[in-house]
Amino acid sequence: MTKSTVTVYTKAGHYWSGLTLAVYISFHLFNQLASLVGEHAHIAVMQAFRSVYRHPAVEALLLAAVAFQVITGLLLIFTRRRSTPAEKIQVYSGLYLSFFLLFHVGAVLYGRTLGLDTNFYFAAAGLNIHPATFFFIPYYFFAVSAISLHVAAIHYIKTGSLRWSRAIAVTGLLAAALIITGFTNGFRWRHMPPANEQFIRQSFGG
Ligand code: HEM
Repeated sequence: MTKSTVTVYTKAGHYWSGLTLAVYISFHLFNQLASLVGEHAHIAVMQAFRSVYRHPAVEALLLAAVAFQVITGLLLIFTRRRSTPAEKIQVYSGLYLSFFLLFHVGAVLYGRTLGLDTNFYFAAAGLNIHPATFFFIPYYFFAVSAISLHVAAIHYIKTGSLRWSRAIAVTGLLAAALIITGFTNGFRWRHMPPANEQFIRQSFGG
């Protein structure tokens, strides 16, 4: 197999695992936006979605897609030079997403081994407890923004449509701001259950 054949397969694999993840992420971000209505609304939506993505076969596929996406994405960076602004945005947003996905999914799986329910409060504890909030607000804000910048850059490279690419990027930035607003109750901060507070204080101090 030549080097370019390997690149073609890696690219195709990255595309398909990306598409699989995109389906989950769309529902997942809608779930995070439900925090604007309140914590109980967020938990009710998550309970409904969990009946699908917590099915062992679906979850195995999802976790495999995460690993595959990160590995193929990192491999693709080395295939050629990226020189246009859109190509650079695609690479840098992808790099941040790789970092975020590893930590985010790692934290969820670790939390579950400790017997924590990784529901609304699992994510909200980091966003509402001082000083961890200084890390978690940019951490989640950039993750949601990076998704939309990654997709916007790909859309621009494929179609040349600046208008739609901008619309995708702006929608993501707006969603990121709304999710932070929902989780922090508009920066008036939310009260956390003791187990979640303890998990964050043990990991981040305070
Ligand atoms: C502000 C944004 C986000 C918040 C508050 C958040 C919160 C959460 C929570 C609470 C879980 C645990 C779900 C459960 O136990 O059922 C979770 C799981 C997960 N999240 Fe996120 N998330 C956010 C953004 C993202 C983004 C941007 C991605 C992808 C790039 C992502 C990918 C995942 C994946 C793959 C899982 C694991 C699902 C599983 O196997 O149970 N999340 N997230």
